Amino acid sequence: MGDPEGVIGVFDSGIGGLSVLKALCAEMPHERFIYWADSGFAPYGERTDEFIIARSRAITEQLLAKGPIKAMVVACNTATAVAIESLRTHYPLLPFIGVEPALKPALAQTQTGLVGVVSTQGTLNSARFDKLMKTVVAEALPKQGHFVLQACKGLALAIEKQTEKSFNDTAEVADLCAKYVQGMGSFGQASGQIDTLVLGCTHYIFVQDILQKLVGAEVRLISTGEAVAKQTKRLITPRTEVPLTQTHSSKTAKTELWTTGALSALQSAALRWLDLPPEHCHQAAAQSFSPP
Ligand code: DGL
Repeated sequence: MGDPEGVIGVFDSGIGGLSVLKALCAEMPHERFIYWADSGFAPYGERTDEFIIARSRAITEQLLAKGPIKAMVVACNTATAVAIESLRTHYPLLPFIGVEPALKPALAQTQTGLVGVVSTQGTLNSARFDKLMKTVVAEALPKQGHFVLQACKGLALAIEKQTEKSFNDTAEVADLCAKYVQGMGSFGQASGQIDTLVLGCTHYIFVQDILQKLVGAEVRLISTGEAVAKQTKRLITPRTEVPLTQTHSSKTAKTELWTTGALSALQSAALRWLDLPPEHCHQAAAQSFSPP
């Protein structure tokens, strides 16, 4: 689907979607990507639906203005939950691939029947998430499963802020993780304990080590990056050009990143998580955007 020589657009409210971009690059090493971190307007998880839909459209316009886009990956659970239908209606010729909390694989894997889900308030409150949860539970029958939902207010923003400061300053992030994990109940493999934790926000992959320590090594953490990358690969028409060899320079030459927030924050995150040098990151010009 789409112009084979086009670029794959990827966006998130900030740096969280870099975890998805990493999986996309690994799955499709010969494709070109353009990433938009909307950090100047983050966090989405605590915004209105109207705001998120308007930003998602504005970002799509910005990326389309930079050249042919053959598919758009909404690398944000909150924007997928709230805006993907509107995007699909507005741009009927452009394929949109979204990310959703991995409830189905989590329910398939749980032994205790208790699955924790950490996500933003926006995702958990959405009609799309409610529908997903009901469908997954119905499809798993006769296996019984129960989801323990935890909205992690402030965590995505704290992860963003941490990128702007020193990477060693993890106090706020660690405190929030501890607070939210404790709020969910007991983790482990005994009956009545949560044995599987779904990371329902793309930012949370970057704190998975902290979360894993808090819940214990035997609890399984599930994210969606790889599944989304595989789904994107199924949907696109691959590039026809001779594949680049997998040297460092060829890998970085095909990825361009933009931010509405602090350029230095995107640069450190891109270097840290994707091994991408700073020259691939760009400052998006301040746009006139009136929040709805
Ligand atoms: N990374 C986003 C998500 O997956 C949103 C975080 C936020 O901006 O609140 O939901």
